[in-house]
Amino acid sequence: MAMQTTRGAALNLHDLGKSYGGLKVLEGVNLNVAPGEFITFLGPSGSGKTTTLNLIAGFVDPDAGGRMQLDGRSLAAVPAHKRDIGVVFQNYALFPHKTVRENIAFPLKQRRPRPDASTIAKKVDQVLQLVHLEAYGDRRPDQLSGGQQQRVALARAVVFEPKLLLLDEPLGALDKRLRESLQLELRRIHRELGVTIIFVTHDQDEALTLSDRIVVFREGAVEQIGTPAQLYNNPGSEFVATFLGDSNIFSGTVRGGQFTLDQGEVRFAPLEGTPDGVAKIMVRPENVNLSADPAAAANAVRVTVGDVVFSGATLRVEGVDASGAQLIARTRTDGVVPKIGDSVWFCWDRASTRLVASGSGA
Ligand SMILES: Nc1ncnc2c1ncn2[C@@H]1O[C@H](COP(=O)(O)OP(=O)(O)OP(=O)(O)O)[C@@H](O)[C@H]1O
Ligand SMILES: [Mg+2]
Repeated sequence: MAMQTTRGAALNLHDLGKSYGGLKVLEGVNLNVAPGEFITFLGPSGSGKTTTLNLIAGFVDPDAGGRMQLDGRSLAAVPAHKRDIGVVFQNYALFPHKTVRENIAFPLKQRRPRPDASTIAKKVDQVLQLVHLEAYGDRRPDQLSGGQQQRVALARAVVFEPKLLLLDEPLGALDKRLRESLQLELRRIHRELGVTIIFVTHDQDEALTLSDRIVVFREGAVEQIGTPAQLYNNPGSEFVATFLGDSNIFSGTVRGGQFTLDQGEVRFAPLEGTPDGVAKIMVRPENVNLSADPAAAANAVRVTVGDVVFSGATLRVEGVDASGAQLIARTRTDGVVPKIGDSVWFCWDRASTRLVASGSGA
């Protein structure tokens, strides 16, 4: 007995902002979500992720000027309980004295017109199956593990077949293994239901694993929107480069397309088309090779090896350059393994350099 696939909703956010007591905590959020997309909000604590979800869910009203549309219809005059949006928030606990079945049935019983008892029972069975909890329907929440409780919360959020699901750090309190297995379940449920999902996390690995696109929040504004690969390979700022994945950042000056570091024994390939002024460039650790002789490399920085960590598939080599900057290389384990204190060159090719800030204000 499969759940019916609901086509996910389109969501458009236009110039959303929110102030509390004259203090702006969210400003200028623009986002167009396609039907069925899995969107992740990623950002540090206090950057505005939950506030944005609260606005979409209708728990909080936006400042004047902000607009939201669900499947092309304005949400302005629609109260929260009529938006047909499923929500799982971290502080949105299950009812402790109700069984799993009663918890899941609750949103259906609130609906007007109220579905009849056999329809409710059938839908509850369907979502219990969806989250693999068929055998737990008669238990109370305190008789379940944390992961099972999260799955009940998810079942309760999807039982009325919403076209949009808002999940605010639903896996936050769980240990790593449980988290990873629920991530896979969430992907499966997303595929099976076709529902549009907005998922909040501050775990970058979770964001990279789950999302069609990631929205990076910073200090109450959207810093960058893109697919995981776009954000990882072409971060638009130093903030995004360092927030998603490990990175090596070099601060220096560009003059006539030539980047120079303030100090140290280095060679950088020209950055054509980059305006004169201060600049920052970035290279990912997996694009850095170790070499005793940098003659053939487009970019090379001499470093003193500080630590070497073997992790099976890769070798993580940490080093310090002459300016004192901490740098990381991740290489194959079948090459030369340096020792702590060795002087080596970190080398990379032209295509692996990313400019993450430029101009006089960088
Ligand atoms: N009701 C409120 N009154 C005043 N300030 C608020 C209120 N709710 C949120 N804020 C402020 O808005 C900012 C954004 O909060 P928000 O909850 O959206 O952050 P977040 O990105 O979800 O962070 P976290 O990762 O810690 O959950 C914070 O500085 C917070 O203190
Ligand atoms: Mg939050």
